[in-house]
Amino acid sequence: AADVSSDITEVLVTEEEIRAKLDEIAARVAEDYADEDLLLVGVLKGAIMVMADFSRALKKHVTMDWMAVSSYGAGTKSSGVVQIRKDLDTDILGKHVLIVEDIIDSGLTLSWLLENFAARGAASVEVFALLRKPEAAKVEVHCRYVGFDIPTEFVVGYGLDYAEKYRNLRDVAVLAPHVYS
Ligand code: PRP
Ligand code: MN
Ligand code: MG
Repeated sequence: AADVSSDITEVLVTEEEIRAKLDEIAARVAEDYADEDLLLVGVLKGAIMVMADFSRALKKHVTMDWMAVSSYGAGTKSSGVVQIRKDLDTDILGKHVLIVEDIIDSGLTLSWLLENFAARGAASVEVFALLRKPEAAKVEVHCRYVGFDIPTEFVVGYGLDYAEKYRNLRDVAVLAPHVYS
């Protein structure tokens, strides 16, 4: 359809709500890391929007790196197999790392990443996830900063895709089942 609104059933989190939440969490992070150098690691591709907006809301100098991992492919369910598509450019040994993610769904991607980063000898590794689906968790992930807990529905927008589409929507919205069924 030419009109994307027919592909979504409901807006869950608006652009304005996202902006307010990012400001709030950015203030906490700036305070928590006041005495540390901080490396933000964005998880491509879903985290592009949250990384762009969150890093600019932070009143602190940071460095940034990116890791591309994928477990969903073209489906709506995690395959459980996390693949590195692009590794970090930075050596994180001894660094304070904050992983920036768009969403924790099953938790498989982040639990895998946390183990991977711990093995590289980071001084600390914490997580900021804009969205979390508490009822979909297959593994527990310690997430220090959470934007919004949302119901177990397939959501798109603000970086989140279905088969690479809808990432450029400004809000987070529920994808209409007719799109993927
Ligand atoms: C999505 C999302 C998270 C992950 C969350 O990424 O961006 O990274 O899945 O799901 P989980 O908690 O069940 O592991 P995806 O694998 O779709 O890659 P993408 O970011 O490139 O869209
Ligand atoms: Mn992702
Ligand atoms: Mg995806």
